[in-house]
Amino acid sequence: MTVTVNILGPGFVGEVMGVTSRLLDDSDILSSIHAAYLSHKVIVIRDFPIAADPLVRISELFGPADPHHVAAVRHPDQPKITILSNQDEPGRKPEMKKFGAGWHSDYSYMRRPSNATLLLGAEVPGEGGDTLFADTARAFDTLSDEMKRKIIGLKVRHEYRFTKDRTHPGARWNFLSEAEQAATPEVVHPLVIRHPETGAHCLFIAPSSVSGVKGIVGMDDAESDALLAGLFAHMTSERLVYRHKWRPGDLVIWDNRSTIHSATTDQLPSHQVRRMYRITTNGSEPLAA
Ligand code: SIN
Repeated sequence: MTVTVNILGPGFVGEVMGVTSRLLDDSDILSSIHAAYLSHKVIVIRDFPIAADPLVRISELFGPADPHHVAAVRHPDQPKITILSNQDEPGRKPEMKKFGAGWHSDYSYMRRPSNATLLLGAEVPGEGGDTLFADTARAFDTLSDEMKRKIIGLKVRHEYRFTKDRTHPGARWNFLSEAEQAATPEVVHPLVIRHPETGAHCLFIAPSSVSGVKGIVGMDDAESDALLAGLFAHMTSERLVYRHKWRPGDLVIWDNRSTIHSATTDQLPSHQVRRMYRITTNGSEPLAA
């Protein structure tokens, strides 16, 4: 048995039809889901059970789960799951209500960034709270040959708590414990990576302070900022972006090596409740293109 896929986005994003939790023991279905994830970069499965166990089970297809390094956002009974919520939740700082808003690739500021992210709509608003996705392989492919030559081989500094404006209310300097800071030191990754499974060349940067991109190694700030700003504008141009409007029970799974994404919870009024279950899976050190 295999699955069928409807394309939802501009050349990427597949809605995988015919998956039920009952089929999650079927190895053909699992291989079809994995193949769809690699080729479409973002996949959508509808009507997934809103419960921890099936989510943990399907996440195993994409690698071992990586519990969030900010302990306050972990699911109280299942630390592999992060609960993203725009509500006041016990033990959380107000900044955490907007986690995920701003373009980024999950854990790109870690030595071993995430492979896949699985995000399940547990409680979703009737309107708003969408997630945006952009295809970073297509972004690389559509650059000029001159720009490709210029950026291949460059390296970028990333740091979780980095933001140019430390007084910004969402600045991570404000809420990280000493242990959480020690676990998230500066790391350096290639600007253009080679996808370890598909071989595609992908831009591995993102245009917001959430991503923690500090600058290009060996370039002064002005030159680095200008080059990155041009690439960011290209990566998030409308023709490369898909907007996911959530239904309850939507399970969206994306490849962090070939996409970036952004929540829009910063624009969501608090009476519009949004609670999501998220698992990120452990990746490998990015390979230079
Ligand atoms: C995330 O950034 O991983 C979550 C995105 C969202 O909540 O829409």
